Amino acid sequence: APSEGAVTAPADNGRASGGGTAASPGSRVERSDTVGAPGVGDPAFPLDGNGGYDVGHYTLKLSYDPASKLLAGSAQIQATAVQNLSRFDLDLHGFTVSQVTVSGSDASFAREGDELVVTAPKLIAKDAPFTVTVHYSGVPDPVRNSSNLGTYGFIPTPDGSFVTSEPNGAKTWFPSNDHPSDKATYDFEITVPEGVTAIANGEQAAPPKTSGGKTTFVWREKHPMASYLATMTTGKFDVRTGTSPGGIPVYAATDPKYRDALDTLYTKSAEITDYWATVFGPYPFSSTGGVIDDFNAGYALENQTKPIYGGFTPDSGIIAHELAHQWFGDSVSVKRWQDLWLNEGFATYAEWLWSEHTGGATPEQMFRNAYADKTNAMWTYPPAKPRPEDLFNDAVYTRGALALHALRQKIGDTAFFTLIRKWTATYKYGNATTAEFIAMAEQTSGKELGPLFDAWLFQPTRPTLG
Ligand code: ARG
Ligand code: ZN
Repeated sequence: APSEGAVTAPADNGRASGGGTAASPGSRVERSDTVGAPGVGDPAFPLDGNGGYDVGHYTLKLSYDPASKLLAGSAQIQATAVQNLSRFDLDLHGFTVSQVTVSGSDASFAREGDELVVTAPKLIAKDAPFTVTVHYSGVPDPVRNSSNLGTYGFIPTPDGSFVTSEPNGAKTWFPSNDHPSDKATYDFEITVPEGVTAIANGEQAAPPKTSGGKTTFVWREKHPMASYLATMTTGKFDVRTGTSPGGIPVYAATDPKYRDALDTLYTKSAEITDYWATVFGPYPFSSTGGVIDDFNAGYALENQTKPIYGGFTPDSGIIAHELAHQWFGDSVSVKRWQDLWLNEGFATYAEWLWSEHTGGATPEQMFRNAYADKTNAMWTYPPAKPRPEDLFNDAVYTRGALALHALRQKIGDTAFFTLIRKWTATYKYGNATTAEFIAMAEQTSGKELGPLFDAWLFQPTRPTLG
């Protein structure tokens, strides 16, 4: 999936000291000519993702044993070089890598922190397709020490795994270009002990097969997906499948502890997906659903086609939030994390729309209440300028939603909902930025909206109304 070039690599490739070779100016220039950058160029997360190539497809063949917590197998990455490449990085945290091949030939590799540095057996020409296969094994080590994100990535649980990777935890379970600007399609072949269910994104491409006490589940996500939305949630699950009244296949699963919530999860997920399709435009994926696991994450995540709820029974407002993300975040993805309000502001606004739809408070009432709260900390936190260490601040959610309502008040309902549908259609399966949203809002409404967006998204003060 093309990353569309908006994320630019730092000029020195960001590897000023890590390369290990003498840094004479001459060799440096020559080296950076064919060495992919260790980061994709996201100002907030300099080492997330990588430069020099664009992934089109991942094939993950993994086995997981909940008893030993051992994850083992291979990741095959089909990519295209966007520059001549003698060397490039993948993101991978932990694990023992036993072998790396590039287009079938053994490649040498090194580990530098969370970068897996691969030296191509021969130069990969700009625009050439290539395949990297990484064989690896180990006990996954999720990300824990981050300020307000809790634990994320591949989290072993007593009966399996809880896998939620936003923003950059995909590297805790497979080698990847771990940044939403490089979306790709996925095949999963997940082998677990018999009796354990493996749930990944998309749909099951073959029935589960059991032999020798192990079962292999085959899942395929055929629509482009950001790495943080990939999952292989495993464990004991009760499952209900079917088709929504609107014709969308539904897969709902609950840990046995939440068995009583399965039917509601199934029914609400189906109903809400159908409803959002009437508001936001056609559902972008081939199935919908939800998973409740007993890992107490304290949050939910909009894993593509399979939102997951960590250790709680979601009310319909949260289900509405996670399913709205299928349009805002999953189909239309951020190009840089600083634009996260495009995901969370929309998903929060969707909760308010759902509330109104079900006879509760309207967005207008939500807006008035929130606006009246003069001392709320969100007024000092501009949602489109989030701090990298506080990316998920409430301002990104609530003030982001308020910005959308302020926009709606200014341009009117017709232009606002036309804009939303144009947004989801134009950037479907791709990436977008705040600037692109503002441009589309101005073009759709015929109004100059710079000052409104500046006040609601970029200033550390409570906007004035009117
Ligand atoms: N996108 C999720 C939501 O709003 C939040 C994920 C937060 N990530 C984390 N590691 N805590 O539903
Ligand atoms: Zn959200």
